Amino acid sequence: MLSEKILEVSNLEKRFHIKNSSLFGPKKYVHAVDDVSFDLYEGETLGIVGESGSGKSTLARTVLNLTKPSGGKIIYRGKDISKVSRREQKEVSSSMQMIFQDPYASLNPKLKIGSALCEAIEVHGVVSSKKEARERTLALLDLVGLQSEAAERYPHEFSGGQRQRIGIARALAIQPQVLFCDESVSALDVSVQAQILNLFNELKEELKLTYVFIAHDLAVVRYISDRILVMYLGKIMEIATYSEIFSDKNHPYTESLRSAILEPTTEAKQERIILKGDLPSPISPPAGCRFCTRCFKAEAICFEEEPDFVQMSDTHAIRCHIAKVEGGSADE
Ligand SMILES: Nc1ncnc2c1ncn2[C@@H]1O[C@H](COP(=O)(O)OP(=O)(O)O)[C@@H](O)[C@H]1O
Ligand SMILES: [Mg+2]
Repeated sequence: MLSEKILEVSNLEKRFHIKNSSLFGPKKYVHAVDDVSFDLYEGETLGIVGESGSGKSTLARTVLNLTKPSGGKIIYRGKDISKVSRREQKEVSSSMQMIFQDPYASLNPKLKIGSALCEAIEVHGVVSSKKEARERTLALLDLVGLQSEAAERYPHEFSGGQRQRIGIARALAIQPQVLFCDESVSALDVSVQAQILNLFNELKEELKLTYVFIAHDLAVVRYISDRILVMYLGKIMEIATYSEIFSDKNHPYTESLRSAILEPTTEAKQERIILKGDLPSPISPPAGCRFCTRCFKAEAICFEEEPDFVQMSDTHAIRCHIAKVEGGSADE
């Protein structure tokens, strides 16, 4: 990959302390994000998938400095964000914005959309006058495919898809370079989902954005992502380009996520892999490989030793004893 690295995340950890019922027992923690390392390149879309509870939102919140990491390093454009000045910190946080699943929850119901957008624009000082803020508001509405009348309406007057367009406009008001979209289309109907995904693609071209696109469903991220990162119980199980994620050398967990995609075409008929049981507790994750208790390929070693993260190619890394052997090309 030739483009510049925007983010370098190394050995990132986020633990939440769990209140103990007994005063004297050992302290308990949820390991929501555990030893996560990845890079983000300018102009790419990195998809993050994994079932609910795998640590995707905590990872995004930690990278965006909305919650402090328990360990590890986050380098943004060559600078360690825990060591930059306050002013630089502000610049970093406005250049990376998050778009949530339900923008309605964060919109003031008593404020017209136009006023809400003007406020966001003014707070971030990207314009010099009220008139300019109003002009920019109308330009933003147009950019996300809404009519200018939308400025005079209240949040409850919009449908789910339109509200997500407003959420996107509000994030763009601050002129970010990187958008973290956390389950941003997950609550929408499939047809509306496709429209919003198209909008994301158009905006990426037009504004030269970089995306981190998070979803529990691989079907959602696959059309938009250049690379995909698969998380399970706080750890990265696999990271690869889109085509490598759909190859024949994958983590069994990735295989199970892939098999859950309903293919409309007959050629790609694949047996559905249904995982046994629920996600284990992140307070006491399984010994060995985290996925061993639900893995349909697990062997004795998987219950004993945690697999290393092994490079299968320049762009493909995997944490699995079995896939590593099957893949054959891995060097340790
Ligand atoms: N503030 C918190 N306090 C305690 N545990 C948390 C907190 N936030 C998240 N968790 C736990 O961390 C794990 C990962 O959660 P989350 O990042 O929301 O996963 P995902 O977004 O993949 O569904 C879950 O077990 C969740 O219960
Ligand atoms: Mg989440």
